[in-house]
Amino acid sequence: MFPVPLLLLLLLLLAPGSAAAAPGVTARTLAPCYSADLRPASGSLVSAVGCTVLLTAPALRGSRAVSWEYRAGTEEGVILSYAHNRPSFMSRLYENRTTFNESNLSLQVVLQSGDSRLYRLRSQEEATAWFHLHVVAPLSKPEIVGNSSVKAGGNTKLVCNVLQGKADSYWWKKNGQLLLGSERIQFVENTTLCILRASISDSGYYTCVVSNAVSQNETSFLLHVHHSANVVLPVVLACVIIGSLAGIFVWCQRREDECDNCWLFTGAPWRLRTRM
Ligand SMILES: *[C@@H]1O[C@H](CO)[C@@H](O)[C@H](O)[C@H]1NC(C)=O
Ligand SMILES: *[C@@H]1O[C@H](CO)[C@@H](O)[C@H](O)[C@H]1NC(C)=O
Ligand SMILES: *[C@@H]1O[C@H](CO)[C@@H](O)[C@H](O)[C@H]1NC(C)=O
Ligand SMILES: *[C@@H]1O[C@H](CO)[C@@H](O)[C@H](O)[C@H]1NC(C)=O
Ligand SMILES: *[C@@H]1O[C@H](CO)[C@@H](O)[C@H](O)[C@H]1NC(C)=O
Repeated sequence: MFPVPLLLLLLLLLAPGSAAAAPGVTARTLAPCYSADLRPASGSLVSAVGCTVLLTAPALRGSRAVSWEYRAGTEEGVILSYAHNRPSFMSRLYENRTTFNESNLSLQVVLQSGDSRLYRLRSQEEATAWFHLHVVAPLSKPEIVGNSSVKAGGNTKLVCNVLQGKADSYWWKKNGQLLLGSERIQFVENTTLCILRASISDSGYYTCVVSNAVSQNETSFLLHVHHSANVVLPVVLACVIIGSLAGIFVWCQRREDECDNCWLFTGAPWRLRTRM
């Protein structure tokens, strides 16, 4: 015996005039188009803003007059109509960015962000099933916000912001290698990389990689972890100053009588040259 839900599904599939019985639209993205999938798809397709999609439909009965139609929620409309070998209507929404092929009735559309809709071809006698087109904005280079110079032992964070489009995933690389999380390296809310108790070896190029269905992009950031400045820098400066003072003192003691000779000696050739 069939379980009841399966039986209902079978009845739905076999019912005359149901969606499964209608001829289907096939669509594919034309190259070049970011990293979108260029394979043809039936039922639905994900493509990118700015790319061109080709919608094709099987031969319909009564196709001397046809229309490509769209539907989005309750809003429905005609993209273009074609009757008796000539175009009879063109929607302003799709004007100047669609090409209709009269021999196979296919439609090419250069996509805009509002084109995530259902599409179908209708003739006088029948219509295809609705085809679902998802239009995704390609990702621009993300922006990394953080402090490029960090004291050893301190905590720091790098935040990766997507400026255009919506990312489905984020990951980080350090000097080109995938960065894995650890007790000290943590990923917070996808966008943020936290480095706790930074050490000198944490210095390097950090890359944030973002991706969605149609694109991938990345940005790098040079992080420099240095020795704690408020201890090291004054010590180094003090050493340099003390050393210099001691050196000058010794040098002056030794050279006290020779100093004037030195000046004369080094000055002579210069004076000669300028006179020539
Ligand atoms: C399409 O191009 C024509 C001619 O260049 C122009 O008059 C019309 O406004 C354009 N339509 C749209 C929707 O941009
Ligand atoms: C229209 O479709 C036919 C058949 O697929 C094809 O041979 C032809 O090149 C297409 N025409 C244009 C202008 O794309
Ligand atoms: C990354 O984004 C920039 C614009 O910020 C764009 O020019 C570039 O083509 C994108 N790269 C990829 C691989 O999509
Ligand atoms: C960078 O460091 C300064 C002081 O060291 C701090 O005020 C600032 O908030 C830091 N910026 C970020 C983005 O963490
Ligand atoms: C972001 O992280 C949350 C959990 O913190 C997760 O549920 C979500 O799927 C992540 N989103 C992306 C775009 O990676």
